[in-house]
Amino acid sequence: MRVWLAQAFLVPGLSLARAQSASYLNNTPIAPSPATLDNAFSPPFYPSPWIDGPSGRWAEAYEKATQFVSQLTLLEKVNLTTGTGWMSDACVGNVGSIPRLGFPGLCMQDSPLGIRFADHVSAFPAGGFIAASWDRAEFYRRGYQMGLEMRGKGVDVQLGPVVGPLGRNPKGGRNWEGFSPDPVLSGIAVAETVKGIQDAGVIACTKHYIMNEQEHFRSPGNFEDKGFVDAVSSNLADKTLHELYLWPFADAVRAGTGSIMCSYNKINNSQACQNSYLQNYILKGELGFQGFIMSDWDAQHSGVASTLAGLDMTMPGDTDFNSGLSFWGANLTISVLNGTVPQWRLDDAAVRIMTAYYLVGRDMAAVPINFNSWSLDTYGYGHAHAKVGYGLINEHVDVREAHGQSIRQAAARSTVLLKNSGVLPLTGREKFTAVFGDDSTENPYGPNGCADHGCNNGTLGMGWGSGTAFFPYLVTPLEAIKSQVLSNGGVVQSVVDNWAYSQITALARQSTVSIVFVNADSGEGYITVDGNAGDRNNLTLWQDGDRLIRTVTAESNNTIVVIHSVGPVIIEEYKNNPNVTAIVWAGLPGEQSGNSIADVLYGRVNPAGKTPFTWGKQESDYGPDLIYKPTNGSQSPQDNFEEGVFIDYRAFDRKNITPTYEFGFGLSYTTFNYSDIKVTKVSGGPYAPTVGKTQPAPVFGNVSNNAAEYQWPANLTHVRNYIYPYLNSTDLAEASMDPQYGVEVELPAGSQDGSPQARIPAGGAPGGNPQLWDILFTVSATVTNTGKVAGEEIAQLYVSLGGPDDPKVVLRNFERLSIQPGQSATFVADVTRRDLSNWDTATQNWVITKYPKTAYVGSSSRSLPLSAPLDVSDYL
Ligand SMILES: *[C@@H]1O[C@H](CO)[C@@H](O)[C@H](O)[C@H]1NC(C)=O
Ligand SMILES: *[C@@H]1O[C@H](CO)[C@@H](O)[C@H](O)[C@H]1NC(C)=O
Ligand SMILES: *[C@@H]1O[C@H](CO)[C@@H](O)[C@H](O)[C@H]1NC(C)=O
Ligand SMILES: *[C@@H]1O[C@H](CO)[C@@H](O)[C@H](O)[C@H]1NC(C)=O
Ligand SMILES: *[C@@H]1O[C@H](CO)[C@@H](O)[C@H](O)[C@H]1NC(C)=O
Ligand SMILES: *[C@@H]1O[C@H](CO)[C@@H](O)[C@H](O)[C@H]1NC(C)=O
Ligand SMILES: *[C@@H]1O[C@H](CO)[C@@H](O)[C@H](O)[C@H]1NC(C)=O
Ligand SMILES: *[C@@H]1O[C@H](CO)[C@@H](O)[C@H](O)[C@H]1NC(C)=O
Ligand SMILES: *[C@@H]1O[C@H](CO)[C@@H](O)[C@H](O)[C@H]1NC(C)=O
Ligand SMILES: *[C@@H]1O[C@H](CO)[C@@H](O)[C@H](O)[C@H]1NC(C)=O
Repeated sequence: MRVWLAQAFLVPGLSLARAQSASYLNNTPIAPSPATLDNAFSPPFYPSPWIDGPSGRWAEAYEKATQFVSQLTLLEKVNLTTGTGWMSDACVGNVGSIPRLGFPGLCMQDSPLGIRFADHVSAFPAGGFIAASWDRAEFYRRGYQMGLEMRGKGVDVQLGPVVGPLGRNPKGGRNWEGFSPDPVLSGIAVAETVKGIQDAGVIACTKHYIMNEQEHFRSPGNFEDKGFVDAVSSNLADKTLHELYLWPFADAVRAGTGSIMCSYNKINNSQACQNSYLQNYILKGELGFQGFIMSDWDAQHSGVASTLAGLDMTMPGDTDFNSGLSFWGANLTISVLNGTVPQWRLDDAAVRIMTAYYLVGRDMAAVPINFNSWSLDTYGYGHAHAKVGYGLINEHVDVREAHGQSIRQAAARSTVLLKNSGVLPLTGREKFTAVFGDDSTENPYGPNGCADHGCNNGTLGMGWGSGTAFFPYLVTPLEAIKSQVLSNGGVVQSVVDNWAYSQITALARQSTVSIVFVNADSGEGYITVDGNAGDRNNLTLWQDGDRLIRTVTAESNNTIVVIHSVGPVIIEEYKNNPNVTAIVWAGLPGEQSGNSIADVLYGRVNPAGKTPFTWGKQESDYGPDLIYKPTNGSQSPQDNFEEGVFIDYRAFDRKNITPTYEFGFGLSYTTFNYSDIKVTKVSGGPYAPTVGKTQPAPVFGNVSNNAAEYQWPANLTHVRNYIYPYLNSTDLAEASMDPQYGVEVELPAGSQDGSPQARIPAGGAPGGNPQLWDILFTVSATVTNTGKVAGEEIAQLYVSLGGPDDPKVVLRNFERLSIQPGQSATFVADVTRRDLSNWDTATQNWVITKYPKTAYVGSSSRSLPLSAPLDVSDYL
C-alpha cells in the first residue's frame, strides 16, 4: 500500500482514472494480437460469485455472518465495506462502525513482517528471508506470533502475507516482502503463515492480487518530468497465470485466508481492483475464495464497475488520500438505490467480510484498539487527519512476549552459507578480529530514524515502505561479535565508515579474521533511496560495498563477507577470490540481526538455510528487465510476460546459464549424502471436473428504496474528510456529487443476474478442485550426515513434467531434516495431482500430459543425484 507522499503523486492522474471509471465496462475491448501480448485484454466475467456452499469452519462462520448481516440496514452494510478515509482513525485502514449493534468497525494494519506504526512490537525477519529456512514450522510460528501481536494491539486484519510480487525480476522493489520466485516454496510459506496468523485470531490479508511485479508505474500518476503515465499493464498468458503467479494464491485460499488485497497495476489492461476476470472468474470462481477482496490503498478507480467486478472493501475509503469523497460510501448507498448494484452484491460483500471475521474467531478475540498509527504519544487526536477527538490514543501495550528469542532462532536458521573454505565456524578465540562496514552498525538516526525505513544507514534489517515495522531495538552485528570476542578475552576492532580507506587498509593488515558487512536495499515506490524509486537500479552492492570488500581482501587473506540484502547481488568475483574465505547471506533478519549472525559465525547454530532465489553472474541472466521509463506516452506501459513460466532457476536452466549460486543451494558445517530413492504409487482416483450449479444469490434483510431514510442524521458531528454512508440530498444525482452520474448506458451483461450459476470445472472448493490435492505418489530417499557435527539438511524434491514447453525441473516439495553425525534420516515427500499437472487453456482445467515424468531428489535445483520415473499412465 501507499503512504504520505502518495497524494500529491496521484492527483494529476485522477482525471484520467475517473474518466475511465465512468464506464461500466471493465475492460477496453482491444482484440488481442495473436503474435504478442501487446494490448492484451481481460475478458469480462459476471455475475460476481456469492459465497456458495461453504463447508467446515467456513460454514459455521457463514451462518454467524448471515445472522449478523440480516440485521443490518443499507447504511450499516455500506459502513462495513467502506474505509473511513486516510488517517481518519487509529489504523492504516478502518471501516465504519455499527453503533446500533455495538460493532466497533474493523482495523486493518500493516505489515507482512510485524506491526507498522506501533511501539512495543517485534520486528520479524522479512518474508524473503524466512523463506530461506524452508521450514514449515518457522513459517507457522512467525505467522502465529505476528498474529498474537496484532491481536494484542486490537488489529482485525493483518495486511500480509505477500506472494505478489512473486519476484519475476530480482530488482522488483517489494520482492522481499514476499517469499520466493518459486511458486511452491512461496505457496507453502504463505499457507503456513496464513494459518499461523489466523490461529492467533486475526484475519490474514494475502496480497497483492496480482502481477504487481514492479514499483515503477504501478499506479496512474506523474512520473519524474515525463508527465502523467497510466498504470503499467502486466500482460500474461493464461498458462503463465496458473502455473506460476496464481499458484501461491491458490495455496493461500486453500489455507483459508480471510482476505485478499487487489493490486495497483493493470493486468491485460484492466485495473486489478475492477478486473472481473481475475476477481470474479479466477479468484471467487475457480479458486472458490469465500473471504473478501480489499483494495490496495487507493487502487480502486471506479464505483459501480469495481463493485460488480467483485471488490468487497475499499481502502482507505477515499478516492484519493483525504479527498473527503469516495467511490463507495454515499456512492455505494446510491448505487444500490438506483439499482445498478443489486442488493445481493452488497450483501455478499458484507457477508464475506463478516464470515472472515467469525472464521478466525474475532468475536471472541477482539480487544479495543490501543495504539494509533499517526502518533506514538500517549494522548493525541483520535482522528489524526481532522485533528479532532483528543484523548488517550496509545496505551503502549507491550505485545512482544518472548518473540525475540524465536526471531533470533528463525533468522539464524534462515541464514545461508554460500562459501566456506573451512574458516567457519569461528572459535571466538581468533587472535585479532576486525569488523568492517556501515552495515555492521547502527543507523546514526536510530533504528527507526528514517520514515518507513526509507534510507540505508547502518545495518539492514528490513527493506523500506509500508511493509515494515518499528524496531523495538536492533541488535547490530558489531555489538554481537564484540561481545562474543570479549567474552573470550580477545581483540576486536572495527571501521564502519565504508570510505575510510586508509583506516580500513590499516586494520585489515593487522587482522587474523576480517568480517565485512555489506548490503543492498529496496522498497516501495513512494520513497526513493539513493536514486532507487522502490525498484533497485542494479544488482550490485550499495554503499560502495564492492570497493570495501576489495580494500579488505587486498590485505586480509581471511575475509568473511556477510551480505544483508533484499535479494541476489552480483558476487561472482568473491566466490573465486581465495582471500574471501566465506560468504554468508544473512538476508533481512529483523530485530535480532547481530545475535543471529553471531550464532552462525561462531557455530552455535549450524547453518542450513538454502537460497530461495538464484544468484546470477550478471543482471541480464535473469531475463526481461523492469520498465523504468514510459514506453507508451501517457498510456500504460505494456509489460509483456513473454517469458511465461521461465523465471529464476527455470530461466537459467532453459538458457543453460551457470549461476553463481543456484536456487536451493546452501552449505552446512557438516556434509550430507543422498541415496536410495523410492517411488510409491498411491491410488488417487480419477480427476472429475466440478459440475452443477450454485444456489441463487441470497439477500439478507430488506432495503427500503426511500432515499429520505438515508439522509445525514441531524445530530451527527461530521469529522472533516471522513467517509460516511449518508446522502446529502434525496436527489440521488445531486447526492452523488458526480458530474458523470447516470451517463452510463449499459451494465456489463450478466452483472445483475442472481440466478444459479454454473460451477467452474477447475473449482469446487477453496484453492480449486479438491482432487488437485490427491496424492498420486510418495517419493522417499535416505539422507545421511557424513560429517562430524549434527546438522540440518533441506532435502528437495523436483519433478520434470517432460513436455517441450516445461521447465527442466520444478520444485514440488521439501523437508528440513535434523540429522546426527553418522546417522541417516528418511525424506518422504508427497506428490499431488496438481504437482504433476499442466494448465490447459482449451479445457480451462489442469491435465496430466502424456510426456514422461521424473522425480528428482537432492540438495539444490542443480544438485539432484537421485531420480526415478513417475508412471502417470493411470492418470491420463
Ligand atoms: C490476458 O491475455 C492473454 C492473451 O490473450 C490470455 O491468454 C489471458 O488469459 C489473459 N489473462 C487475463 C487475466 O485477462
Ligand atoms: C458508520 O460509521 C461511522 C464511523 O464509525 C459512525 O459514526 C456511524 O454512526 C455509522 N453509521 C451507521 C449507520 O451505523
Ligand atoms: C461519487 O463518485 C464519483 C466518482 O465516481 C465522485 O466524483 C464523487 O465525488 C463521489 N461522491 C461522493 C459523495 O463521494
Ligand atoms: C542516512 O541516509 C540518508 C539517505 O539515504 C543519507 O543521505 C545520509 O547521508 C545518511 N546519514 C548518515 C548519518 O548515515
Ligand atoms: C547500484 O546502486 C547502488 C544503490 O543506489 C549504488 O550505490 C551503486 O553505486 C550502483 N552500482 C553501480 C555499478 O552503479
Ligand atoms: C590476499 O591477501 C594477501 C595478504 O594476506 C595479499 O598479499 C594478497 O595480495 C591478497 N590477494 C588478493 C587476490 O587480494
Ligand atoms: C593467511 O596468511 C597467514 C600468513 O601467511 C597464514 O598463517 C594463514 O594461515 C593464512 N590464512 C588463511 C585463511 O589462508
Ligand atoms: C441521533 O438521532 C437518532 C435518531 O433520533 C438517535 O437514534 C441517535 O441516538 C442520535 N445520536 C446521537 C449521537 O445523539
Ligand atoms: C454532506 O453534508 C454534511 C452535513 O451537512 C457535510 O458536513 C458534508 O461535508 C457533506 N458531504 C459532502 C460529501 O458534501
Ligand atoms: C447509480 O449510482 C452510482 C453511484 O453514485 C453512479 O455512479 C451511477 O452513475 C448511477 N447510475 C444510474 C443509472 O443512475
